[in-house]
Amino acid sequence: MFFAWLKQYMPRSLYGRAALILLLPVVSLQLIVSVAFIQRHFATVTEQLTSAVVLELAYLDEAVSQAEAPQTTLRALGRAFDVGVRFVPADTVPEADAYSWFDLTARRVMSELHAGLDGLAAVALPDDRRVVLWLETGAGVVEARLRRDRLSAPNPHQLLVIIVVLGAFLSLISFLFLRNQLRPIYRLGQAAEAFGKGRHLPYKPAGANEVRAAGAAFLDMRARIERHIEQRTLMLSGVSHDLRTPLTRLKLGLSMLDSDEREPLERDVEEMKQMIDAFLEFSRGAAEGEAERVEPRQIVAQIVEDFARMGVNVELGVVEETGPVRLRGAAVRRAIENLIRNAVRYGNRAVVSITTTERSLCVSVEDDGPGIPEEHRADALRPFTRLDPGRNQNRGAGVGLGLAIAADVARAHGGSLRLGESEALGGLRADLWLGR
Ligand SMILES: Nc1ncnc2c1ncn2[C@@H]1O[C@H](COP(=O)(O)OP(=O)(O)OP(=O)(O)O)[C@@H](O)[C@H]1O
Ligand SMILES: [Mg+2]
Repeated sequence: MFFAWLKQYMPRSLYGRAALILLLPVVSLQLIVSVAFIQRHFATVTEQLTSAVVLELAYLDEAVSQAEAPQTTLRALGRAFDVGVRFVPADTVPEADAYSWFDLTARRVMSELHAGLDGLAAVALPDDRRVVLWLETGAGVVEARLRRDRLSAPNPHQLLVIIVVLGAFLSLISFLFLRNQLRPIYRLGQAAEAFGKGRHLPYKPAGANEVRAAGAAFLDMRARIERHIEQRTLMLSGVSHDLRTPLTRLKLGLSMLDSDEREPLERDVEEMKQMIDAFLEFSRGAAEGEAERVEPRQIVAQIVEDFARMGVNVELGVVEETGPVRLRGAAVRRAIENLIRNAVRYGNRAVVSITTTERSLCVSVEDDGPGIPEEHRADALRPFTRLDPGRNQNRGAGVGLGLAIAADVARAHGGSLRLGESEALGGLRADLWLGR
């Protein structure tokens, strides 16, 4: 409960937290030491010094009050006690005591003086070097001037300032060291994030042993995943490529046959060729091509125009301004094309729109088809999965790779492909989320 409340005020970044961990003990130590120890020490010293002066002044008061020649006695005692003394008219005594608020020991000095000297009319502590007192003696008002250091030790806040400045300086130095320790963690995070988006950042393990170990583990993992991807690509493209030649031969062979036997076979061959094309496309993967700054609305407008030219019923919906975004243009284009092809295969018309948030943009393709029931959506995203074949029969056979390709592309851009129901058209709504 308490920690949950506290958590919302804690800094989020590693740097902030480290600084907090570093500063909190230093600052609290300083506060405890200065308040509890130093203040008390200075208070005691002040008390002792002041009581000595009180004794001298009390003696001076008594001696002057009883003296036959007060002026002479006063001068003699003033010299003996090293106090500047003189008689002053009673109306020069100030009404109230004077001191400055940042004078930490002034209050204690004044209360000690008032407690010890009955005849004390007023005290003034104009700065940290002088003290002026007005004593009402039997022979008239005496003004006494003393050096401040007779009453209190040099001002404690000098010490406090030194502690604070020194503390800040040392904290700064340790923070600089700490930053060097944190940088490898930060770098590792960046490399991992980039890899998640399909980018290969150069990275070398560095820093403390634990961080280095994590970095080495990340490198191993990255190498293994890259090898996997490479093998998948090689295998799929190898198979697809090698199949093309016999398929072409088959097609040639078929053309020798009679037309009524030939047609269904040719259709099969054509279908196989399309499948192989789909495999090839899938194997090329989402990581193909370099990311470049492109205008998403331009890509989308271009695709929609191309489809419309082929007589496909697709139009633009709401298109928000995004500005240039770093994307792999070819891959994103392929993903959107697959979504639109699905939309017009399973429905009749498609609407493409772009919405944005601060850190991502979303290309949505909606259609008026049957949609995909919620429990089948995760399945539909898997490669080589086709749902409910009965439903799709008259729509031509797909391989089951379209949504998988789009999802791959989204992941390579730090996003995801989400399926839902289109409110406007009643069919499927496919949201291609891409990080920007
Ligand atoms: N817009 C849609 N409306 C209804 N069902 C859809 C829609 N898009 C996809 N599906 C369902 O999801 C399944 C998987 O789609 P996916 O695009 O991955 O493969 P495909 O369209 O069958 O084949 P391919 O796209 O590789 O030619 C489809 O078989 C279909 O049943
Ligand atoms: Mg498809």
